[in-house]
Amino acid sequence: MTDLAARLPKAELHIHIEGSLEPEMMLRLAQRNGIALKFASVDEIRAAYAFTKLDDFLAVYYQGMSVLRTAEDFEDLAWAYLASAAADGVVHAEIFFDPQGHLPRGVSFDTVMQGLTAATARAERELGITSHLIMCFLRHLDEADAERTLDLALPYRDRVIGVGLDSSELGHPPAKFRNVFRRARDAGFRLVCHAGEEGPPDYVWEALDVLGVDRIDHGNRALEDASLVRRLAADGMALTVCPLSNLRLCVVDDMKVHPIRRMLEAGLVATVNSDDPSYFGGYVADNFRALEAAIGLAEGETRALVRNSFRAAFLPAETKARHL
Ligand code: HPA
Ligand code: ZN
Repeated sequence: MTDLAARLPKAELHIHIEGSLEPEMMLRLAQRNGIALKFASVDEIRAAYAFTKLDDFLAVYYQGMSVLRTAEDFEDLAWAYLASAAADGVVHAEIFFDPQGHLPRGVSFDTVMQGLTAATARAERELGITSHLIMCFLRHLDEADAERTLDLALPYRDRVIGVGLDSSELGHPPAKFRNVFRRARDAGFRLVCHAGEEGPPDYVWEALDVLGVDRIDHGNRALEDASLVRRLAADGMALTVCPLSNLRLCVVDDMKVHPIRRMLEAGLVATVNSDDPSYFGGYVADNFRALEAAIGLAEGETRALVRNSFRAAFLPAETKARHL
């Protein structure tokens, strides 16, 4: 096997850095920081990764991230992700982080930024992989909390390229965050939003028409609405699709029915990403391999998905052009 999926230079656009926390590092950081975890071993941690929906995963994800306390922890975490990504052929990563998962535990915005930017700078020097940071608001919290988080990010505008919206989707439509997204846009941030993972097509419409996003994260349920599919295709709106995540969170019942091919056939700018690689069973090349195994993803389809990752990236046109 040629393993085209790992060899082709690619961009990864949907990766939550806290979701790259491997069980071994979770135990090591818990020990280093004197934090009591309810898990005693790697096997116990992995046994907790049985999810039937997004909220099952989020409960474990927020527990896991409780071991992250110091800038060194965030640096170790991001460095490990970037090394895995580089081994998978990723040359550019746009990395989500969840400051509201850390602030209530007494971890400052500056601590998070120091750690993440130390790792991204080192990865650029030593691994030749560039990266951007995208700060996500937790949508189960209210807009005022997101507004305070945006205020904290303003002094870091040069190191945070965009804002996004993640966490529990159902009951928390994009329009709940219309004011904070408008202010983020005015401050020069790019805008992305998780929509249509569990939420209905209406949430994707809102992300487009109320928030004015530059990309949709997931977007699977957009396929239920033919006029929405036509709109996404006409706009060249990218979807950052996460196949292993979709399988593990039961967004799809079987990888054999994953809609990635339908998305490409509908003219959508679909991309393949890992979401939370530690929790969902693999990094970006594993996601391509899973599609190859289940639906016989062809070389031309792999190449189209990889080209889309650069089309959709927040990179200068000249840099994108080198990869298209
Ligand atoms: N969906 C919503 N929120 C998240 C996810 C996801 O896949 N991963 C981390 N936070
Ligand atoms: Zn996600």
